[in-house]
Formats: sequence, C-alpha cells, structure tokens
Amino acid sequence: MRVVMGLWIVLLGLVSGAAPALAWGAEGHRIVAFIAASQLDGRARAEVTRLLGGPLPGSMVRVSTWADEIRRDRPRTAAWHYVDIPLGSAGYDAARDCRHGNCVVAQIERDQRLIADRTLAAPVRAEALRFLIHFVGDVHQPLHAANDDDRGGNEVHVVLNGRRTNLHAVWDDAVVRALGHSPAHVARRLERQITSADRARWRRGTAMDWANQSFGIATRDIYARFRGRTPRYAPLILPPNYARDEAPLAARQLERAGVRLAWLLNRAFAR
Ligand code: ADE
Ligand code: ZN
Ligand code: ZN
Repeated sequence: MRVVMGLWIVLLGLVSGAAPALAWGAEGHRIVAFIAASQLDGRARAEVTRLLGGPLPGSMVRVSTWADEIRRDRPRTAAWHYVDIPLGSAGYDAARDCRHGNCVVAQIERDQRLIADRTLAAPVRAEALRFLIHFVGDVHQPLHAANDDDRGGNEVHVVLNGRRTNLHAVWDDAVVRALGHSPAHVARRLERQITSADRARWRRGTAMDWANQSFGIATRDIYARFRGRTPRYAPLILPPNYARDEAPLAARQLERAGVRLAWLLNRAFAR
C-alpha cells in the first residue's frame, strides 16, 4: 500500500509539473494590478472603472488574468504574451523578434493606442485595456523577454524541492509565491518599498525599453547563474532556497510593472 501511495505521489508530481506555463502566474498579475490601481489619478480611475464595469482595485485585479484565460480559445493571441530576444544578442530587434507585431512589445503599443482612442467603441477599448493590464505585467517577467532556444526557459527541466517543473514556471509562480500568498498584502508591502526616486526613474521609456531591461535581467541574473548547466533532458536540480533567493528580483520587477502600468494609463486617459 505504501508503495502504491508513493507511486501516486510521484505521478501527481509529474502531472502537475507538466502543466504548461502561461505568464507570471495569476498571483504576479494580481500584485501588479493592485500596485497600479493605487497610483491612478482621478481621470484614469474614472475611465478604467467605466470601461471595466466595476470599482477599483477589484475590477483591475479580476481582469488581470483574463488574457491567460482566453489564450486557448484564441490561439493567435498566444505569442502576444512574450518576446523571444535571443540570448547573446544586443537586444530587441523588431524585424527579428516581433514579426507581424506578434509579440508583447508591439501589443502593448497597440493596446495603448486603442484605449486612448475615444472614437472607438467601448467594448473594443475595454478589451484592449484587459490585454494591456496583463501584458505590462508579462513584459516585466524576465523570461518573457529572453530565449535561449528553450522557449524562455519552458524547456529547461528543473526540480525544485522535489517537484519536477521548468525554469520558466519557477519564475512565473514559485519565485512570486515566495513573496507571500495574498496579492493584496504583498502589493502593499512592495508599494512601501518604492521610493519617489524609484518612481521617477521607472516612469520613462517604452515597452521596448522595458523588454530590454527584462532581457538584461534574464541574461545576467537567471541564465548566467546556470551557464553551461541548463541540460535539456536531464533535470537541473535547483537549490532548495532558489525561489526565496530570487524573490527580491521578482519583487522589483512587479513594482516596476505596477508603476509603469499606472503611468501609462494616466497618460492614455489624460484630457
Ligand atoms: N513561448 C515561447 N517563448 C516564450 C517566452 N519567452 N515566454 C513564454 N512563452 C514562450
Ligand atoms: Zn501572459
Ligand atoms: Zn510565463
């Protein structure tokens, strides 16, 4: 009986480890939405509330994961969640990395234009807003802006605390969960560590700049730590404290995403 139970635990581990990675997990997107909602000015707050049909922060937090939920039903949106900037390259190159606008950088720019265009029907602008709230989060997940012929780490098999998963999923989920389990509480804690100097530094640039920053973090702080040790088939055993050690880096990215999303919405709805 014990042998049979043990076998089941192993099988369950394999099944859950095989679940496909989508984006920052739901928790990461909710944290970003909480941070951004608290930094909207009056005009943006009113417009977001109207387009999403409910008060903040709840409506923003709820729609923050919508783009992942519809991804299977709208397969052509799947590539909008990331940009594969090749490791070792000099950075984002639209002709190489974003053909036909099928990447997170082009989609952020497109959704920015759509939400700001008051001649468009409200449902069109509302959908663009739902995508935008999600994609500004995704572009800050370092492995959503880097690729080492491994689909942003999705093909790097790892074992973390006895669980089989992959490097991408560890950054979508485990590293964020190491920050705490309540997105509202984590967001409040992260907001307290954002200084006005941080805000001033972060409120600039374009989606391309943010992707290049993510790419730099993926290069230096994620892939470089495994240099020559990211086997494709045999799993890489991560140190048990990997998620906890990397959590401050994820926290910084979530803070940047929240500040920049609010900045972008405040500008889109100004006037
Ligand atoms: N699929 C292919 N590349 C990816 C990436 N960098 N992030 C997420 N999914 C991907
Ligand atoms: Zn996503
Ligand atoms: Zn992801």
